[in-house]
Amino acid sequence: MDNAAINGKKIAAGKAVEYIKNGMTVGLGTGSTAYWAIQNIGEKVKAGLSVRAVATSIQSEELARQLQIPIIPFSEVDRLDVTIDGADEVDPQLNLIKGGGGALLREKIVAAATKFYIIIVDESKLVRQLGHFPLPVEVAPFAWELTERRLAALGGNPKMRLAEGKPYLTDNQHYILDCSFGSIADPALLHRQVSDITGVMEDGFFIGMADIVVAGSPSGETRILKKGE
Ligand code: A5P
Repeated sequence: MDNAAINGKKIAAGKAVEYIKNGMTVGLGTGSTAYWAIQNIGEKVKAGLSVRAVATSIQSEELARQLQIPIIPFSEVDRLDVTIDGADEVDPQLNLIKGGGGALLREKIVAAATKFYIIIVDESKLVRQLGHFPLPVEVAPFAWELTERRLAALGGNPKMRLAEGKPYLTDNQHYILDCSFGSIADPALLHRQVSDITGVMEDGFFIGMADIVVAGSPSGETRILKKGE
């Protein structure tokens, strides 16, 4: 990854963390951009900020614990005040493709329970239409070939995600099929079609979920995009 992208991620993360206030329950995202947000929250906790957090992956939970951010079981809360997470693509309506890091199911459960959902990206993730980045689809290992054929019939050209030559396993012990649909004119419709396939546990479309997107530029500026604007 180039330094410009890293800088954009760090800047966006720093800006987003300003939304976290004392006493809040916070969702921690996953990936290289959320990493900077977790680091930043860790610094604030060290300086006296009091928060409770729920993580969207084992990886983020471990990082948070190292930084002494108090982690609570998700089952103990109904609503999170704020969640900060990354994305792979963001369109002008703030629809997202997520899951490049494989945490999409947990990320979506956390997002759905969040009052104010903040997405942080470097500005290269802002696109006119979703679809250049392959859509991750988390599927049950049982009869996954059948699910793969259904996704292929939808035009997704699914490819099993691999790790060291074997199917990549999510934190929930599912597989991921990365689907290339090309430019997606109607993400909400495709989301419904993909979700309707039995065997699909979750897809990487996050439609209408983000309240704001903070985009960071390599030169250190941030742009805040708001839902409905
Ligand atoms: C994790 O599963 C993803 O949804 C990430 O949030 C997304 O892939 C963005 O990752 P980066 O911040 O590493 O680009």
